[in-house]
Amino acid sequence: MSHIIPKRVLDDIRFRNDIVDVIGGYFNIKRAGSTFRALCPFHKEKTPSFHINPQRQIFHCFGCGAGGDVFGFLMQHEKVDFITSAKMLAQRAGIRLEMEADAGGAGDKTLLYEIHKELAEFYQRCLLQMKAAVVAREYLLQRELPKEIIEEFLIGYAPAGWDTALRWAQKKKYPLEQLEMAGIIVKSSRPESQSRFYDRFRNRIMFPIRDEQNRVIAFSGRAIDPEDKSAKYVNSPETPLFHKGRVLYALDKARRNIVETGEAIICEGQIDVIRCHQAGFKNAVASQGTAFTEDHTRILKRYTDSVILVFDPDTAGQDAAIKTAATFMEAELAVKVVTLPKGDDPDSFIRKKGADAFSERLKKAQSAIGFQIAVLSSRQDAKSEVGAMRIAKAALQTIGHSPSAVQQARLIEEAAELLKLPTAALRNDFNTMIRRASRPSSPHQEELEPHVRLPRPSEEISLCEHLIHISKFPALANLVRKYVPLDIILDPMCKAMAKALLVAVETGRDVQDLLREESDQSGELQRFASELLIMPDKMKGTESSLENAMKDIICGIWRRELKKERSALEKESDTSASRKDRERRVQLTHDIKALGNWEDGSMIIEIEMSNRGERKNSP
Ligand code: CTP
Ligand code: MN
Repeated sequence: MSHIIPKRVLDDIRFRNDIVDVIGGYFNIKRAGSTFRALCPFHKEKTPSFHINPQRQIFHCFGCGAGGDVFGFLMQHEKVDFITSAKMLAQRAGIRLEMEADAGGAGDKTLLYEIHKELAEFYQRCLLQMKAAVVAREYLLQRELPKEIIEEFLIGYAPAGWDTALRWAQKKKYPLEQLEMAGIIVKSSRPESQSRFYDRFRNRIMFPIRDEQNRVIAFSGRAIDPEDKSAKYVNSPETPLFHKGRVLYALDKARRNIVETGEAIICEGQIDVIRCHQAGFKNAVASQGTAFTEDHTRILKRYTDSVILVFDPDTAGQDAAIKTAATFMEAELAVKVVTLPKGDDPDSFIRKKGADAFSERLKKAQSAIGFQIAVLSSRQDAKSEVGAMRIAKAALQTIGHSPSAVQQARLIEEAAELLKLPTAALRNDFNTMIRRASRPSSPHQEELEPHVRLPRPSEEISLCEHLIHISKFPALANLVRKYVPLDIILDPMCKAMAKALLVAVETGRDVQDLLREESDQSGELQRFASELLIMPDKMKGTESSLENAMKDIICGIWRRELKKERSALEKESDTSASRKDRERRVQLTHDIKALGNWEDGSMIIEIEMSNRGERKNSP
C-alpha cells in the first residue's frame, strides 16, 4: 500500500532535522561567515564549492549543481526515494510516523503487484515443470542460460495456448479487469467473440521486468519458434505499474554495483544484460528496447555520473549510440562508447570471446565525441573540406547538448585534436553556433537540433530570483500574476518555477515540498531552486524597492516579447508588407520605448494582454 506523510508531520520532521547537523553528521563542514562549506560529496573536487545555508535550510553545490533541502540531501546522498528519506529523518529526530493512505487511488496497485509476482512465479513453474515446456528448456540451454540464471532473473515460459494466463487468473479469483489493465490478457476485437479475452503472451520465454525495489511490474516475452511470424519480443503495454520510459531492466540488481564501480554499462537487450551479469559485469542495465529518455538519465544519475554504451555496431546501432550519448551528455553524465565486432552484441561477444575480452573492450571505450567522429569519418571523406566541416558541425552539435562549460571545453579540445583542427577555430565555430541558436527567430535556428541546450534568458532568471522569496513579499506575486502570463516565459524551467511559486503563495505550502511533487522526483526544479536561494541575497531592501526591481524585470520581458514580434515583421520587405503590418511596426517601436518606465509600460502591457486574449478567443 502506498502512503503519504501528512504535511504537519513533514513540517515537524524538517523543523527537527537541522540541515547543518544532518549534513555535518556525514562529513566535515566548515563555517564561513553565515554559511557553511564543504567538499562536495556529489562530484570530485579539491576546493569546496558545496554550500549550506542554515537560514534557508538548503544546500547547493556551485560545482555540480546538486542542491535541495534536508530531504533532498538524504535522497541524493543515501540514494533513496522521498518517503524513505522522510522515514530516516523522522527516526533521527525520534518522530513516530503515522502514514495516511494515499487518496490518489495508488492503493489499487497492490493487487496489480501481486498478480505480476504470482504470474511470474507461475510462468517459471511452467518452464521448469511442464512437459510441453521441453522446447523452451532446450532453447534456454542452447542459448546458454542455465538454471541459476533462470532462477536469478525469474525467467519463465508462457505456454502456447490462448488462455493459460486467463484460466490461471480465474482459478486464483483475480478480477479479469485487473489482468486486462496489466496487459496480460487482451479483449478480442472480433465482433462474434466480443468481451472474450485471450493471453497476450503465448509460447514465449518470459522475462519479468522488475522495478528498483525488485517488484515485478511487467513482462517481455521472446518468441522461441523460428516459424513464429509475430514480433521477436512482445512486451507489456504501458500500465499503472509500467512506464517504459522510466524503467531500466535489471536496475534492481545493478544499482549497488553501479555505485561501487562508479559506472553503468548500458546495453540494448535483456539477454545482453543477463549475460553481462553472468560474466561478472553486474553494473549492466538496458532500456526496454526503446530510446533513452530524460527520465532514464535522471534515474541513472542517482547512482553514477558516468556511463558506457554498448550498442550494436550496425548503422542503426551507431546512430542510436550517438543519439543516446547526447541525451546522457545533456544530463551532464560522462559518456563512453564501446564498439563490438560486426554482428556481435554483448551476449554473443561474451559467449564467443569470454569475460576478459569484454573487459578489454570496456577499457578501450571511446569518448562519445571520439566515437561520433570515428563513425562519421567512416561514412564520408574526412579529408575533403566539406566532409571535415560536416563532421565538425555534427560534433559541435553533440557538444552543445552538454550544459556544463567545463565539459564543453574539454570536448571541444578533444574534437579539435581528433579532427586535426586548431582548438581556437573550433571554439569560435561553437560560440557562433550557440549565439545563432539563442538569437530569437534567427534564420539559422532551424538548422540546429531542437534540444541543444541554450543559456537561460537572464531576465527570466531575474524573475525567478525575485519570485523565490515570494512568501515574504506578496506584492511581488500580485505583480507577476497580473502582468506576466506564463506562456511568455520561454525557458521551461523558469516557467515551471514561476508557476510553482505562484501556487505556493496561494496555497501557503512549502516551496521545496511543492517543487518535489511538481518535478516528478526528477530533482531538476529543486536543484534550480537551491541555486536561486543560495545566491547572494538580492532581497535586501524594502518591499517597495523590490517591487520596483520586479517592475523593471517585467518591462524587460515584455520588451523582448515585442521586439520578437517586430523582427518577425521586419523580415518581410517594405513593399510587400501590408499597411496593417507597417502600422503595427511603428506601434511596436513606440511601445518598446514606452516600456522603459512603469507608468507607460504597465498600461501597454495591459493593452497587449487584452489584445492577445481577444485574438485567442476569436475564431
Ligand atoms: N525488442 C523489442 N521488440 C522487438 C525487438 C526487440 O522490445 N520486436 C527489444 C528487446 O528488449 C530486445 C532489445 O529490443 O532485448 C534488443 O533487440 P535485438 O537486438 O533485436 O534483440 P536481442 O536483445 O539481441 O535478443 P536476442 O539475442 O534474443 O535475439
Ligand atoms: Mn542478442
